[in-house]
Amino acid sequence: MRTRFQGDPHRPAYHFLPPANWMNDPNGLIHWRGRYHMFYQHNPNGAFWGTMHWGHAASSDLVRWEHLPIALAPGPEPYDDAGVYSGIALDDHGVPTIMYTATSGPQSAPSVALAVGDQDLVTWRKDERNPVILPPPDLDLTGFRDHTAWREGPWWYQLIGAGIRGVGGAVLLYRSQDLRSWEYLGPACVGDAAESGTMWECPDLFALGGRHVLVISPIPLERAVYFTGTYAAHRFTPDGGFRELDPGGSLYAPQSFRDARGRRIMFGWLREERAQAAQIAAGWSGAMSLPRVLSLLPDGGLSQAPAPEVETLRQAHARWEGLALPDGRPVAPDGLRGDRLELLAVIDPGEADAVGLAVRAAPVGEERTLLLYERAAGRLVVDRSRASLDPDTARDVRACALALAPGEPLRLRVFVDRSVIETFANERACMASRVYPTRPDALGVELFARGGAARLIALDAWEMEAVTA
Ligand code: FRU
Repeated sequence: MRTRFQGDPHRPAYHFLPPANWMNDPNGLIHWRGRYHMFYQHNPNGAFWGTMHWGHAASSDLVRWEHLPIALAPGPEPYDDAGVYSGIALDDHGVPTIMYTATSGPQSAPSVALAVGDQDLVTWRKDERNPVILPPPDLDLTGFRDHTAWREGPWWYQLIGAGIRGVGGAVLLYRSQDLRSWEYLGPACVGDAAESGTMWECPDLFALGGRHVLVISPIPLERAVYFTGTYAAHRFTPDGGFRELDPGGSLYAPQSFRDARGRRIMFGWLREERAQAAQIAAGWSGAMSLPRVLSLLPDGGLSQAPAPEVETLRQAHARWEGLALPDGRPVAPDGLRGDRLELLAVIDPGEADAVGLAVRAAPVGEERTLLLYERAAGRLVVDRSRASLDPDTARDVRACALALAPGEPLRLRVFVDRSVIETFANERACMASRVYPTRPDALGVELFARGGAARLIALDAWEMEAVTA
C-alpha cells in the first residue's frame, strides 16, 4: 500500500485515513486506558461505500495513529449481515461495549446491536441478545440509525437518529440499566422537515459550558449542524434555529467524546469532493478532520480549535513580519511553498474590503484556493472557483459568518494537507474543504488584500510531519 500511494498528490499526509479503501463516519471514539481509539465506517473491498465494517486505529496523541485489525464485520447472523453501521463505544463498568446500527437486507428495518471487547479493544464479540432495539412500531419512520449515549446514576440513556415521515428529523430517547433491555421514552426533539431536514443522521448530545449541544447531520443538508439548548425531563429544547458546524463543503457525520483531561474532542468525516471514478482509481476515499477541541463562545456558538497535539507535527518553521499588502497585488512570502503546511497569518485588514491567503496556487494562478475575510458581508470565505482544472471536482464558493470587532486583526490558521484545506479563523469560524489541483506546481502561498491596502502583522509557516502511509 505504501508504494501504491507514493506520489499520490491528493492523499493526506497528516489527516487520519485508513491504509486503503473507503472510510466514512468516525465511530466509537473513546479514551481508553490512556489511549485514544478511533473506529470508523469502512469498506475493505474498495474505495466506494458498501459492505460496512468498523475499521480501527489507536493513538496516544490524537495525531499519530496505529492501524489495528478491523473490529466489526457484517454477519454471520442475519440481523447485521448487510452492514455494521455507525455507533459508539461505551465504558460499561470496565467492560468496553460497542453499540451500533445493524442492517439486514433492504426489506428489513435496521436495529440496534451490541458487541463486547477485550481490554485492548482489538477483538469484539457480538452479544447473543442482539438485536437489542427494534424501531418503535407506532412511528412511521424514514430512517432509524446512529447513536449517542450517556449515564445518569443507574441508567444508561441513548438517542437514536430518526426521520418521522411527513414531519421531519428527530432523535428518539431510550433508557436501560444493562444496555440490553431498553425502554422507549419517546422523541426527545423533533425538527421541521422544511428547516432542518427529513432525517437526522449521527446525533451527538453533550453538555458544554453550562448548556447542551445537539449535533446532527440532516438529510438532505449534506453537512453537519448543531443546536444549543437545554436537555431536561427527557426533552431537548433548542434555544433557536440550528447553526453551522462547518459549511466548508466536506465535513459530515462528526462524533465527539470526552477525554481523561475533560476535553470535548470532535472528529468529522471529510468527504471527497471529486468524482467517484477518481476515488476508485485512487484506491482510497475519505479522511478524518483534525481533532477539534470544543468550547462554548459567549454568544452561545461553538468554538472549535485544533487540539494542541497537532502542534507536535510541526517541523521546519519560517516567519515573516510587517509586510505591506497593497490593494490587488498579491504578495508571495519568499521561499514559502508546499502541500503539507500549517499557516498562521495575523492580518490587519486596514481599509481593505477583503484580505486573505491563496494556497495550492500555481505560478500564474491557473489553480488556487482562496481563504479570505470579507468585511462588508462579515464572513469567512473559501473560494474554490479556480481550485482545480479538473471539472469533476468542487469549484464553488462557501462561507460562514465571521464579523471582526473594530481593531481586531484577522487570525487565519490554515492546514494544507494535499487535498485537505482545514481553516480556523479567530477561534470562532471553521471550514474544511477538499481541493484537487492537477498541476504539480500548485504549491504556492500568497497573501492578498482587495478594495484597499492591508498589512500582514505576522505569518508563521510550518512544514508538517507526514504520519499517514
Ligand atoms: C452517515 C451514515 C450513517 C450510517 C452510516 C453508514 O454518513 O449514513 O447514518 O450509520 O453512514 O455507513
